[in-house]
Amino acid sequence: MVEAQNCPAEPDQKTSYSFSEQIDPETGVPVGLAPIELVYREHPEFFSLAPGSKYHDVGVGRAGSTNFFLDKLPPGVCKTLALVTSEPHPEEGFTRICEELDGRVASYKFFKESANKVVVSEKDCALITLINMIHLVPEAERIELIRDAYDSLEPGIGRLIISTTFIDEWIPNKDVLLFNNGLTRAVFSGAKRSGVDTRSLVERLKSEGLVMWSVKEYLERIGEAGFEIEFPASSSELMTMPCTAESYHLIAEDRSWLDHTFPGIDYVLAKDITRKALASMLQGRDLDYSYPLPRNTLVVVARKL
Ligand SMILES: C[S@@+](CC[C@H](N)C(=O)[O-])C[C@H]1O[C@@H](n2cnc3c(N)ncnc32)[C@H](O)[C@@H]1O
Repeated sequence: MVEAQNCPAEPDQKTSYSFSEQIDPETGVPVGLAPIELVYREHPEFFSLAPGSKYHDVGVGRAGSTNFFLDKLPPGVCKTLALVTSEPHPEEGFTRICEELDGRVASYKFFKESANKVVVSEKDCALITLINMIHLVPEAERIELIRDAYDSLEPGIGRLIISTTFIDEWIPNKDVLLFNNGLTRAVFSGAKRSGVDTRSLVERLKSEGLVMWSVKEYLERIGEAGFEIEFPASSSELMTMPCTAESYHLIAEDRSWLDHTFPGIDYVLAKDITRKALASMLQGRDLDYSYPLPRNTLVVVARKL
């Protein structure tokens, strides 16, 4: 593998320094939220909340998803909500995000907790959202999380909205498949050159790497918990997340992502290896960071009967 010499210019770190803030030009929302935006445009009724409702956004990150859902409500309703957010690894500067959320609603609680610990205790929700995070919940805890979400929703009206692109069927076309295979090879070559024991890395990936469920499995588990699935109408109805090579550069900033893709490796080294491999791939194919790498995405809207 040839090390990139004249790397393509890196994306502007000031305007889009994290994956969640890369804006999709088509929909005008962050790339990671574009599939849900399309569901909203087709079914705004899934996103409405009665005054005084309780909303819990789980795995809140930088609150991109929370603000997205609050923005869909009339300001008069938003001001009456009881908002709960939870996140096991809040970033530096999170206090400011909390203050801003607090100013948008009637009451606000934040829990520094992982999903399974907190969903169970926050009852009577009208809406629980698990946005771009359920794949990070250890597989052994996912079914319990879906059941706990069911128990914590208000009967008859409570909704669970899930979005994840980490599904078995994530590859939408041959170009993405080829790019992905090349990137995996480049990452492993880079890891070897950096002194990583790639054999043990493969072993660790088998035991600690991300476990991606199929769409069928998600829909079955959600149905088994008692939910009525309002969207999608069938397991073949997938959305598309309009990722680009820039999204892959940006996601390498995300510590929990690196912990799963490079288990046991120092995250600064993991980030460096990932970014160099990506730059070398783009350079070798004369591409830049706007190269489209869309991902199939599952958005589920489910109602508690
Ligand atoms: C890609 S971010 C999504 C943030 C936000 N939901 C959004 O879409 O803007 C995923 C978040 O899930 C959090 N996370 C990881 N494991 C988790 C767990 N077991 N329970 C709850 N959140 C978790 C990560 O720390 C990260 O902030």
